[in-house]
Amino acid sequence: MLTTVGLLGYGNVGAGVAKLIKTEGTLIADKLGWPLKLAKCLVRNPKATRNFPPDPGLLTTDPRDVVGNPDIQVVCELIGGLEPARTLVLEALEAGQHVVTANKALLATHGLEIFKKANEVNRDVLFEAAVAGAIPVIRTLKEALTANRIQSLYGILNGTTNHIITRMSKDALTFKEALTEAQAAGFAEADPTADVEGHDAAHKLVLLSALAYGILPKLEDIHIEGITKLEPIDFAFATEFGYVIKLLAIAGLHNGQGSLEVRLHPAMLPAGHLLAGVNGVMNAVTIRGHASGDIFLSGPGAGMMPTASSVLGDVIEVARHHLSLESSLRPPILGWLNLKSDAVRPISETLLGYYLRLTVQDRPGVLSAISGILGQHNISIAQVIQRGQTELPGWVNLVMLTHQALENDLQKALDAARELPAVSDIRLIRVEESL
Ligand SMILES: NC(=O)c1ccc[n+]([C@@H]2O[C@H](COP(=O)([O-])OP(=O)(O)OC[C@H]3O[C@@H](n4cnc5c(N)ncnc54)[C@H](OP(=O)(O)O)[C@@H]3O)[C@@H](O)[C@H]2O)c1
Repeated sequence: MLTTVGLLGYGNVGAGVAKLIKTEGTLIADKLGWPLKLAKCLVRNPKATRNFPPDPGLLTTDPRDVVGNPDIQVVCELIGGLEPARTLVLEALEAGQHVVTANKALLATHGLEIFKKANEVNRDVLFEAAVAGAIPVIRTLKEALTANRIQSLYGILNGTTNHIITRMSKDALTFKEALTEAQAAGFAEADPTADVEGHDAAHKLVLLSALAYGILPKLEDIHIEGITKLEPIDFAFATEFGYVIKLLAIAGLHNGQGSLEVRLHPAMLPAGHLLAGVNGVMNAVTIRGHASGDIFLSGPGAGMMPTASSVLGDVIEVARHHLSLESSLRPPILGWLNLKSDAVRPISETLLGYYLRLTVQDRPGVLSAISGILGQHNISIAQVIQRGQTELPGWVNLVMLTHQALENDLQKALDAARELPAVSDIRLIRVEESL
């Protein structure tokens, strides 16, 4: 068994998909139960220099090598724009191929036509990558929260504008300064209109609303307001009042049960709100289900590999749910073929930073004795603070942050430190810098 994949487009996202299939082929095959094969990729200019060069013979300029090619089961539309994307997607469905797309503009504009065709021909159109990059918000709405009435959903759905807003808020930049900086850093397009005027986020909001409420709102029916009119003074006032400003995408039922409200505009949120801490290019969505309560999802909302990750997730869903039904081979329960009991790495082999709080006698030589023990065990100190008396007269708190160290070394060092008469207690908290 093999699942064959064709790409329409080998740009930013397409190359990311090709890279994941190539570099993670074994991992994917282990999880899925059989391998994926990338068969053909449609481009305009096969001679263009590419960050992740394709295998020889992979690129084509003829759409027929992908769409309607009987050797390709899943077509990933990663061209962008409305045409020829729309026509190619419809033709692929008509030819019996399943479709995965990252194209929110296409689905927000022609979604009804495309989904209708897919139902007619009993094929799937999956689009996790079209909303919030790597965040599995579509799957959460479509599967995990199926039994819920969705009372509201709201979030930050555009990384470019969130980055600009973050810079305006934290460093008092004007919109223009923050945009220019974002463009120089590659976080904003040369033509940023779709992002800063809110259209990109609105396309995504349309798709989320469709999943949550079964209604594909028309773009012209939605209040869409971008961030171009925001000024630094707004952010200063927001701070003074205990708020932050975010470009929010909001959908919900009026008073929790009436008609659907869908809007996209800058909004102030309490500084303590979960979304207030979502800064830079990150995206986040909160979904309120009547049974589930609030679900908060956050992560990278765009970029080559985060978006490719979602595209591949959809390809694997098609392979698992649909293609497997067409053969006698069933996908492995739990999704993994190679569950091994010895696969878990013992904590002694982990490399982490540590917060250490030692209760020590307040006298000369104690700090050097402890740092000497740590040094002997390959542990270097990043920061150290000695703060005030403890409840024990003559004993103080010695607080240390270490650089990354092997847990095994650290535990041996702490055992040695506990032997010192000047140490009465040691508390440890692991510092997860890389999560
Ligand atoms: N980039 C992201 O972070 C991101 C995140 C989420 C969703 N998306 C969505 O993913 C899709 C692709 O985005 P991208 O950033 O990968 O775009 P991109 O870098 O511009 O790549 C587009 C690819 O499509 C090919 N192409 C375009 N028009 C074509 C045509 N008429 N015929 C044949 N090939 C054509 C291009 O060929 P050439 O290479 O020869 O020019 C290129 O390989 C878009 O719908 C976008 O909204 C992107």
